[in-house]
Amino acid sequence: MKTQRKKLAITTLGCKVNQYDTDAVMTQFLDAGYSIVDFDDQADVYIINTCTVTNMGDRKSRQMIRRAHRNNPSAKVVVMGCLAQTSPEEVRDIEGVNLIVGTDQRGRILELIEELDVTESASIVDDISAVRDFEELPVSDFGGRTRAVFKIQDGCDQFCSYCRVPYARGRSRSRHPQNVLSHVGQIVQDGYGEIVVTGIHLGLYGRDLNPPVALESMIQQIADIPGILRLRMGSIEPHEITDELLELVADHPAVCEHLHIPLQSGSNRILKRMRRNYTTEDYRAVVEKAREKVPDLAVTTDIIVGFPGETEQDFSETMNFAEEIGFSRLHVFKYSKREGTPAASFPKQIPSRVKDSRSKRLIQLGEMMAENYHRSFIHRTVQVLVEEVKEGMASGLTDTYIRTAFPTSQTDELVGQIVSVRVIQADKQGSMGECV
Ligand code: 5AD
Ligand code: SF4
Repeated sequence: MKTQRKKLAITTLGCKVNQYDTDAVMTQFLDAGYSIVDFDDQADVYIINTCTVTNMGDRKSRQMIRRAHRNNPSAKVVVMGCLAQTSPEEVRDIEGVNLIVGTDQRGRILELIEELDVTESASIVDDISAVRDFEELPVSDFGGRTRAVFKIQDGCDQFCSYCRVPYARGRSRSRHPQNVLSHVGQIVQDGYGEIVVTGIHLGLYGRDLNPPVALESMIQQIADIPGILRLRMGSIEPHEITDELLELVADHPAVCEHLHIPLQSGSNRILKRMRRNYTTEDYRAVVEKAREKVPDLAVTTDIIVGFPGETEQDFSETMNFAEEIGFSRLHVFKYSKREGTPAASFPKQIPSRVKDSRSKRLIQLGEMMAENYHRSFIHRTVQVLVEEVKEGMASGLTDTYIRTAFPTSQTDELVGQIVSVRVIQADKQGSMGECV
């Protein structure tokens, strides 16, 4: 008789690092014979990988936990990740939760959940501030995407005044270089063309290792792995972008011409209160230097609007500075007051209608800048890594992170290949072109 495979449903909130953590946990379940089903299907185990960067992250995380229990009340529910780490008691009070795991020991989820009965619950939430070792979980499945997100660093030591992440992720810790290389080597062999190298605070990579390893050297070694088509780097702080790193972006064929450099504010007064350790002048200098080496560089960023005390003047400095830099893509966050962070008790918290309006204006500017950037490639040839082919149209990303589509008579064999495309038209979403 054929035995029914057990089913896992898993969902991720928040950032790319969380996506990696999900993929690593999913890999364990796949290796143990589980099949993966949609979150709203009937599963035996539901896992919610939570986010707590903003109130919205908390709220959506809680919603998904309740939804899992509703989808199948007799299934086991695991809550992991950042919200589970910072607020385990709150998570425990939600009906139907069986296992709570923070941002460490994710390697034990499978074993623990199999031991538990649906009526039981357990919790493994460490004191994350005391954890010093990177949890080197293997991962072989990336949820059917063509890009594999690979985490080489976790945690953050910076404690910006608004941010809850250091409390959720603990101190900076790095994956060992041999482990990085053997893993990425395997992922490349498995056919993933693009590797997105990420961390919570990637620029701190290697400082905790003995002997220390420089991020640039790690990036170079990954980029040198035979068969790798593209390496994209996650977020890097302005003061952590070195000349060596820029050389790699400029000269290494596999390293994408794209840097995500979080700005957070274009007002020096606000940057100081955010406890960011750079000024807009420093930021401008880094971008200028980068563009001298890589004229077409895509620079993307995160900006928070409505930080406590942000005046209309501060906000217009942010608008002007963003426009001056000419970002190719903006992630706009409305400031969210996070308990336990210094900024939560700062005076002059900004009303939500003001945040809404500033966010709208900045998003609009972001779209305009994206369109300008996309249009700058019209009549030029770009390299597209094809992610899907549907109804005669192929689409994928350029190394400068522009979503680009082009007609093709080929089908699936194009997926995962890099194709030269001449850009014909572009808008704020991306561009269209033809194969050359
Ligand atoms: N409120 C709004 N946005 C935040 N971020 C971090 N903390 C907060 C907060 N309290 C944003 C920052 C960071 C991104 C991942 O999340 O812009 O770069
Ligand atoms: Fe959210 Fe930050 Fe945790 Fe990522 S690290 S899931 S953005 S709280």
